[in-house]
Amino acid sequence: MSRLLVVEDDAAVRTTVVTFLELEGYSVDAVASTSEALERLSENSYPIVISDIYIDDRTGLDVLDAARNKDPECSVILMTARGTMETVMAATRGGAFDYVAKPFEIDRMLDTIKRAEAARQDKEDDKENVAGPDDLPESEMIGSSAAMVEIYKTASLVAPTDATVVIEGETGTGKELVARMIHRFSARANQPFVPVDCGSIAPALIESELFGALKGAYTGADRDRMGVIESANRGTVLLDEIGDIELNFQFKLLRFLQEREIRPVGAARGKQVDVRVLAATNRDMQKLVDDGKFREDLWFRLNVVRIVIPPLRERRGDVPLLARFFLNKYNARYEHSARLMESGLKALQEYTWPGNVRQLQHLVERLTILAANGRIDAEAVQQALTSMESREEPVETLAEAEVEQIRRVLAATGGNKSRAAQILGIERKTLYRKLERIKL
Ligand SMILES: Nc1ncnc2c1ncn2[C@@H]1O[C@H](COP(=O)(O)OP(=O)(O)OP(=O)(O)O)[C@@H](O)[C@H]1O
Ligand SMILES: [Mg+2]
Repeated sequence: MSRLLVVEDDAAVRTTVVTFLELEGYSVDAVASTSEALERLSENSYPIVISDIYIDDRTGLDVLDAARNKDPECSVILMTARGTMETVMAATRGGAFDYVAKPFEIDRMLDTIKRAEAARQDKEDDKENVAGPDDLPESEMIGSSAAMVEIYKTASLVAPTDATVVIEGETGTGKELVARMIHRFSARANQPFVPVDCGSIAPALIESELFGALKGAYTGADRDRMGVIESANRGTVLLDEIGDIELNFQFKLLRFLQEREIRPVGAARGKQVDVRVLAATNRDMQKLVDDGKFREDLWFRLNVVRIVIPPLRERRGDVPLLARFFLNKYNARYEHSARLMESGLKALQEYTWPGNVRQLQHLVERLTILAANGRIDAEAVQQALTSMESREEPVETLAEAEVEQIRRVLAATGGNKSRAAQILGIERKTLYRKLERIKL
């Protein structure tokens, strides 16, 4: 459900509105002044804003402006006891969704909100209709191999439940993407999706990172800090690289999964949270369990439903679809019109893709830039792969990186040196000097 912002200076009216809306299941932020409203709007985006017109020195029309500037799709419902023709007209011109006279019946207000939500949904549906198969939303998963279709099925069955899911696969296979899909097709879709990379958090900090910490719980904790899990409340948390969690925190994580209760570091008592937990890993979890590095009971708790994404080299049939998808995307982004030749596609299909889809995506981006208006053939693919492979080891010196960057930008500008210098942020003279030196 949508999160709403209520702007009303009269405390009694504000409390009434908030109470009713919360009973209806909405989460509500409520403020008493225009300045607070503008502050909230600069930080968050609200699909629906309900504002009084006469608040303080500024008015509900200022709130309306700010909300619509932030998000043109925002529905602003204005209310007042002293509505005039002028204010109603101004509100309508400013794009207010509706205008409610006070005192209002709460059912009327709810109807208006429901209509605003429906209007918004209609607009979204329209967007999807006009979108051709080539410009699906960024998060869309591509792939029609049997293995991927199985994954779609499992994901769509498990999405609407609150079941914990473990997503396994090599790096770059799309584990986070699958997690996002599960969230997007769940009842929590409008609530936060929060991924947390357990592998990159120092073991000493993981507890406070996930569960939060009270002020003074450790040196440097100068204020209460909300943990990642609480920030995902009502939504979904993705515990990424779950296999990297150290044994001594595993028990606390297990307790959390059992009780759905977090206890911030330094807090005397725990608090209940409502989060759906997804986990991802590129490690062999069974082996970690066998080696005593991962608690078996925790593994059982997590592993309710398991989705294993095969590496790209085991579903080469997906390579053409993915390559064309990324080609269209980057042609559009860079305003290029690179074309993928049969020989180029064949070269892509034969490659082993140790970095899986992410690597393919980067390679296609690179090819699209370099082959401005041009052809992506076997040779171009080979070249790009060679330089990509050599770049995987961090042996590149600053000087080498500079040469490479100049080369890329020149290729992207079709050899236009003025334009290249501009993009590189150096003077044309300097670029000429550098070109001379590196004999390009
Ligand atoms: N099937 C797919 N269709 C479209 N894009 C995909 C697909 N699989 C992966 N990608 C893209 O590849 C990139 C890597 O995906 P993602 O981050 O989900 O991988 P991951 O498995 O979480 O990798 P890592 O283990 O390195 O974190 C992303 O940009 C993602 O959008
Ligand atoms: Mg990932």
